[in-house]
Amino acid sequence: MCGIVGFTSLDTPAVGPLVNGLRRLEYRGYDSAGVALESADGIRVFKQTGRVAELDKLLAKELPNDERGKYTIGIAHTRWATHGLPTQANAHPHTADGGRLAIVHNGIIENYASLRAGLEKRGVKFASQTDTEVLAHLIAIFDKGDFLSAASEALKRVEGTYGMAAISARHPGEMIVARKGSPLVIGVGEKDIVVASDVSAIVAYTRQVIYLKDGDIACITPEGVEIHSLDNAPVTREVQEVDWDIGAIEKGGYEHFMLKEIYEQPEALANTIRGRLDPSGATAFLSGLSLTPRELAAVRRVVIVGCGTSLHAGMVGKYLFEKLADLPTSPEQAAEFRYSNPIVGPDDWVIAMSQSGETADTLAAVRESIRKGALVSGLCNVVGSTIAREAGRGVYLHAGPEISVASTKAFTAQVTALLMTALKLGRTRRLSFEDGARLVGEIEKIPDVVREILAGNDAIAKVAEKYASAGDMFFIGRGILYPAALEGALKIKEVAYVHAEGYQAAELKHGPIALLSEKTPVVALLADIPGKEKTLGNVQECRARNAPVIGIATKGDDVAAAAVTDALAIPKTSPEIAPIASVVALQLFAYHVARLRGCEIDQPRNLAKSVTVE
Ligand code: M6R
Repeated sequence: MCGIVGFTSLDTPAVGPLVNGLRRLEYRGYDSAGVALESADGIRVFKQTGRVAELDKLLAKELPNDERGKYTIGIAHTRWATHGLPTQANAHPHTADGGRLAIVHNGIIENYASLRAGLEKRGVKFASQTDTEVLAHLIAIFDKGDFLSAASEALKRVEGTYGMAAISARHPGEMIVARKGSPLVIGVGEKDIVVASDVSAIVAYTRQVIYLKDGDIACITPEGVEIHSLDNAPVTREVQEVDWDIGAIEKGGYEHFMLKEIYEQPEALANTIRGRLDPSGATAFLSGLSLTPRELAAVRRVVIVGCGTSLHAGMVGKYLFEKLADLPTSPEQAAEFRYSNPIVGPDDWVIAMSQSGETADTLAAVRESIRKGALVSGLCNVVGSTIAREAGRGVYLHAGPEISVASTKAFTAQVTALLMTALKLGRTRRLSFEDGARLVGEIEKIPDVVREILAGNDAIAKVAEKYASAGDMFFIGRGILYPAALEGALKIKEVAYVHAEGYQAAELKHGPIALLSEKTPVVALLADIPGKEKTLGNVQECRARNAPVIGIATKGDDVAAAAVTDALAIPKTSPEIAPIASVVALQLFAYHVARLRGCEIDQPRNLAKSVTVE
């Protein structure tokens, strides 16, 4: 939520890297953007409402190329509004000290109102409604000649979360960065240092990075990085190498990141699976879990926490854990769980699902579970992310960077990882060698199953064309396909702005059926799972109310094909794989509907990729 970039170099102008970095981070928020640049003449700030492209136009107009060379240090920000409307005044960077100090911030300062009131009493005039501006003025007030100490003193008074970067004309060449609850990474190049909310804004310059930890504050100059705690004790953080390159975060010929990421799934899933199956033991190796068979056997209940798509994947996990490992499993929306004074303890295994590993609600659920003595694991995509680190053990998805705000490959990788986890857990309990071996074979086939669905893209696009103008849609599924129906509805809501609801197939007749008419298409998930015949009955109920039904059904299932208005075929799979296969078809369906409706697919309105506020 909000993207921060900072750049400093011995000789490279900062504007280009800052704006390029913002483009990479635009998925984190895109209602306004700005940069602050420092030279011997002081600090200049440029900000604009709208996307980074608007800021770029402003810079082209107001900062001629021949002037850019003198600014080799700067900070930049792309915003997802929390405090105050997305106006130019509320856009970052914010300034204090008569424009001599500029700051960009990601996160929420929870005590900003009382801090602001105190500052106003001292005569400080505010130019924006943001919480961030409070921090700028506090740093200016504490500045008695040492920039790092001034920022530390200010941050000690702040409650809430921050990733921040600041520059000051009183301290030429120094950039102060700090984090608590919002990610911040420092890329250390040969001549340049780049700071960003995530590595995607850094890899164009260097793959050597330092992940700051909560409570770290650093002073950066072109010569190097000094990290301290807020109490000024020196801190050492290791330099790590990012294991992917710039190609992974470019569109590579696809019109949108969403489509690219849908198409990346066979390879992404092969990476999730690689080296983790053990055919000889009919189980899975998941070394990151660091749990002995004895510890796994002692688990009495699984709780899966997450939000959005990650929650839907966790809901599939319920079916997998209960069926394969005989373990009662509750999927929980992370914020609801965290504030429910949850009953968890040493017998419970809490699995936190998060693509980004930074979702504030999920992180809070992890902390609450650790506090209560539960066994906690992360199931994250982003390596080194906060949830992955704080959980301390877990399974990385290895699905590669996901840039589109709508999550696609992360879902299928999460379900695949949960399936392997359930297999491992099941094999410490009552799952037989034969059943384990069957599952190992099924998991190995997942990339090919997805490949086959992608090959049917044209047929899906054709059906999407027929329904692209619908204002409302229903998605129905039962059992393990119910979460897939929720995920299909979420995808079409967020990328195509179609009002959609996901329901248990049996629940439709208990009220929502009143809304059906020839104008409300129903997408029915009809893959081969136990209970499919019942869903076919529900399809008949929908058709009897004139609702057109799009069926996602197994290839060659003539009964299902005859029952629906339009059938989209997916390969025959075991029930455990059916949610993956069904959701890939639904991702393509949502993508095509969004494209036909002219939506901004990769950056839908009002959203942000990484939700780091509660
Ligand atoms: O990074 P996370 O998986 O924790 O993110 C959770 C949700 O914010 C995320 O899945 C969101 O619902 C996506 N926009 C769905 O496409």
